[in-house]
Amino acid sequence: MPLEKVMINIFEPNVCKDSEKLLEEVFESRWLGKGKLTNKFEADLCEYLKVQRSEFHTIASCTDALFASIRVFNLPRGSCVVIPSNSFPALPSAIIEAGLSPIIVDIDPTTGNLCLDELQKYYDTSCSAVFVTDYGGIPNDIKAIRNIVGENSVVFVDAAPSLGTFAQGKFSGQDADFCCWSFDAMKLLTCGEGGGVYIKDAQIMERFREYTYLGLSASEKSGLDRSKGGNVWWEYHIKSPGRRSIFTDINAAIGLPQIGKLEQRISRRSEIRSIYEDAFKDLDWLSYIEQGDTAVRYSNYFFTVITEHRDELAMHLKNNGIYSTFRYYPLHRIPIFQKYSMECKKCEIFSDQALNIPIHDSLSNDDVKDIIYQIKNFCSLSLGNEL
Ligand SMILES: Cc1ncc(COP(=O)(O)O)c(C=O)c1O
Repeated sequence: MPLEKVMINIFEPNVCKDSEKLLEEVFESRWLGKGKLTNKFEADLCEYLKVQRSEFHTIASCTDALFASIRVFNLPRGSCVVIPSNSFPALPSAIIEAGLSPIIVDIDPTTGNLCLDELQKYYDTSCSAVFVTDYGGIPNDIKAIRNIVGENSVVFVDAAPSLGTFAQGKFSGQDADFCCWSFDAMKLLTCGEGGGVYIKDAQIMERFREYTYLGLSASEKSGLDRSKGGNVWWEYHIKSPGRRSIFTDINAAIGLPQIGKLEQRISRRSEIRSIYEDAFKDLDWLSYIEQGDTAVRYSNYFFTVITEHRDELAMHLKNNGIYSTFRYYPLHRIPIFQKYSMECKKCEIFSDQALNIPIHDSLSNDDVKDIIYQIKNFCSLSLGNEL
């Protein structure tokens, strides 16, 4: 009996054996929470990103980072935050929950990122911040954004998919006030779940640490350490209201061995991109988001094709064992966010025509060939063209 073909996934974790060994060590240590391995994970990532240890912090998820960031920058209540429609749905929720209003604006369809002309058009005195999303690892131009919003506004970057994107020696988001990454099950560096934040301002970072740990002082010692001074150790010294969002040694054990492999993974993704570009460059019914800035080294989290036949292509791929998807269902089309949305004509077309196809580093050369074959085959079958 022929073996059933395994579906080619749109995203796939690439977890190595070393993680299994580290997980065993964590279980044997009888401490599963935030500890030594989390410290090592943070230190290694700081080295990778070339930032100070004090500027980086891990938490339970990137979604938590979005929610906490809006709180700790103490933006004026009732003020507005401009965001692109092509964003993760937690972003407008985080803004609304903090007592502010999102202004959802159109995108630049050549990158999937916020359109700077739209930012210019809608950024006024009611606004206190802009929160951009790096679409599939493509960086936003922070300098141009600052020129529009001014030095007194806060620039936030959701770099969830762009760990590994660097330009002129700086990671994407380094020139912003805040940047966050996701280490969830689908990301380039996966810890099962997890998130990281970069905040340059030491005071705001301290507030972030406190807010994401019950409002306890960031310098609070463990109960055992406090007991050493002869004091009772079970009192809480809460400075402000807070929640709890923790990255654990279990997450760190999964992620740590992957940090040293990031460069290799990103170059494999970039190799796959070149093969796709070569295969698709002459197709007149399909284009793709280009990444032509030679000053940028892209993480290649997405390879996004654009075609008027998007839905049929996605179905054809699925029927032939290849899973594709589209990120992000536009915020302006989600009924509860519509009242915050401006006209988003370019995002309308983008969200009807864009499709993310697999580009992860676990794809074999045969997988890549199969994906190309199926895309071209779709053309000859459905559009009546020759291969
Ligand atoms: C742009 C963006 N922001 C935030 C998130 C949320 O990340 P997490 O799953 O770590 O909460 C995601 C998840 O896919 C994302 O793509």
